[in-house]
Amino acid sequence: MEIRKYKKSDISIIEKLGRILHNNYNFELDDFSSCLVIEEKNNIIGFITYSIIYERAEIIDIVIDKEYRKKGYGTLLLEKVFDIIKDNNCENITLEVNSNNKSAINLYKKSGFQIVSVRKNYYSNSDGYLMKKELGDKMKDIYILAIETSCDETSCSIIKNGNIDISTVILSQIDIHKNYGGVVPEIASRSHTEAITLVFEECLKKANMTMDDIDCVAVTYGPGLNGSLLVGIEAAKALSYANNKPLIPVNHMAGHIYANKFVGEFKFPLLCLVVSGGHTELVYMDKEYSFKRIGSTLDDSIGEAYDKVARVVGIPYPGGPLMDKMASVGKHTYNLPSPKDDNSYDFSFSGLKSAVINLVHNEKQRGNEINKEDLATSFQETAVGILVKKTIKALKEYDVKELLLAGGVSANSGLRKKLEEECGKLGVELLKPEIKYCTDNAAMIGAAAYYAYLRGDRADLDLNPNPGLDL
Ligand code: KG4
Ligand code: ZN
Repeated sequence: MEIRKYKKSDISIIEKLGRILHNNYNFELDDFSSCLVIEEKNNIIGFITYSIIYERAEIIDIVIDKEYRKKGYGTLLLEKVFDIIKDNNCENITLEVNSNNKSAINLYKKSGFQIVSVRKNYYSNSDGYLMKKELGDKMKDIYILAIETSCDETSCSIIKNGNIDISTVILSQIDIHKNYGGVVPEIASRSHTEAITLVFEECLKKANMTMDDIDCVAVTYGPGLNGSLLVGIEAAKALSYANNKPLIPVNHMAGHIYANKFVGEFKFPLLCLVVSGGHTELVYMDKEYSFKRIGSTLDDSIGEAYDKVARVVGIPYPGGPLMDKMASVGKHTYNLPSPKDDNSYDFSFSGLKSAVINLVHNEKQRGNEINKEDLATSFQETAVGILVKKTIKALKEYDVKELLLAGGVSANSGLRKKLEEECGKLGVELLKPEIKYCTDNAAMIGAAAYYAYLRGDRADLDLNPNPGLDL
């Protein structure tokens, strides 16, 4: 999506759209007026005309193509005009609207306009409203209802302006999957189906809000388990359709990164170390919601390695958190092979994982006891060592202002401590999500969705899961 000033070559398309307003719409601007167009995939889907006469600003017309209505595009056009007229020192902005045009009146009200007077019979057979908005106020608050069901957590959140958690509910299925030593996809999607309505209702209740207070619905559409994603997507579609709210598709990994919005602002350019149950990646960002992957794991993710090593020493799924606890009391006594340590920013953890599993089996065969704490420390220091080493190398090469840590394994105390030390030495700021936002939750999806919303990302009712979605 892009909003830009109109060009002469746009006029025929603007006039065609203008005919939605009146049959004989003519595009004419005087010296005080201007026009912005909004494009989606290089097609103009709407426009706004406005005038600024010294300190007086007025919206003349706003049109969004029928197919693209109820997606928040009108609000984005209005916000852009508010920015422009603020720069011209206007204190307020007015417009006239037909009192029968309920959807336009609602759009204006949502953007902060109020009816200030009624002009009797202003239009041929109806009244006109004069509406006004004061510009002293900041941008309109955006409340996003976010849904996350990509793996084994059913979660729903209401997030204000991308960084205020109004209400979050998370129902974890860990206790169910524990019995099987890992997530069973079929059981996960069935459990999401049972939980989603209750979790959604609880979330609204906790916030003391109704769907009328919500501006848009956001949902994770990948990466993740197909059946699990599908439950969240169908719920989000139903809520979006029934309540006429835009639907915002969100990448789960972007969500993990944006969990850091609850801690502080992003300072670009930045690097992000994403470590979760499914991913291990180094990501470069030079602006909001723009991701460039500079390295990733070639085999197991770090979370997977933690969980598999934990399993072989009898720790139930997911073993990562308990391994971390044990590592804090053990000693580095086991000699483990160093994982892939080359010039690239790619990782490999399967060799380290297999070495630990073989070591445990061999010791068992010999009838020797494994010291689980020492093994946890040895594994953690080796795994965290390589993560930190490559991250530091990237920080130096990319000359960034900030490092973000993200994903379930960002809860790891060893990793947090080591990165704090190293970033301190380099003078690079480190943002770490609060522990409650490290593993899967809908709050992080609501935070990312705010920036996806501002960029104009929208989905339709044909949105499908994308289990292998990349950043
Ligand atoms: O991000 P997440 O909730 O799910 C995915 O998107 O994959 O990450 C879950 C992973 C699991 O592998 C879990 O064992 C790991 O994060 N994890 C940890 C810790 N807390 C969670 N691993 C190491 N140390 C922790 N403290
Ligand atoms: Zn995750």
